[in-house]
Amino acid sequence: MKRIEDYIIAVPDFPKPGVLFRDITGILSDPDGLKLTLDTFYKTLENVDFDVVVGLEARGFLFGVPIAEHFHKPFVPERKKGKLPRETVEITYNLEYGTACMEVHKDAIKPGQRVVIVDDLLATGGTAKAAAHLVEKMGGKVECFAFVIELADLKGSEVLDGYRVESLTKF
Ligand code: PRP
Ligand code: HPA
Repeated sequence: MKRIEDYIIAVPDFPKPGVLFRDITGILSDPDGLKLTLDTFYKTLENVDFDVVVGLEARGFLFGVPIAEHFHKPFVPERKKGKLPRETVEITYNLEYGTACMEVHKDAIKPGQRVVIVDDLLATGGTAKAAAHLVEKMGGKVECFAFVIELADLKGSEVLDGYRVESLTKF
């Protein structure tokens, strides 16, 4: 039987020389791979009590939406600045070079709501940590992070110390 990691394609030298890019389109293009990945998420999150799923642009949307549908919870897109049409709350965070800004609609997370943050991949953890801070700025509580892939060498889970982190695969 195939495992989730068997559907992930390793692409050398993308987006720059020396980087081995883990490509999740191999999961999406195979219905068996997508079913296995989603079923594993459903099982992993079965015992997590949460009110809202926050998906991180862009690849976090692909998995966050079906998870929200499965558990019959609202899905909230967290997007790069300037994409959401209504009033937002934003967070600016540091990248290797410069800064980035993400936002969610102001009415999307209510104080006290318990949140699962979904993304395809945990690398340095910078994106995920900023997402957690944005949820907390709105009065929400991060119950759990859920990733398809964790790049263990980059130690993103250490950056998320204190949070529950569920990664379906590790490389
Ligand atoms: C990738 C990935 C995560 C983030 C992880 O997204 O999907 O969101 O980087 O990196 P970090 O742990 O070092 O912060 P990317 O910025 O490439 O956006 P995309 O999904 O819109 O392509
Ligand atoms: N794959 C996909 N997205 C990424 C990666 C990767 O290996 N590293 C950082 N973002």
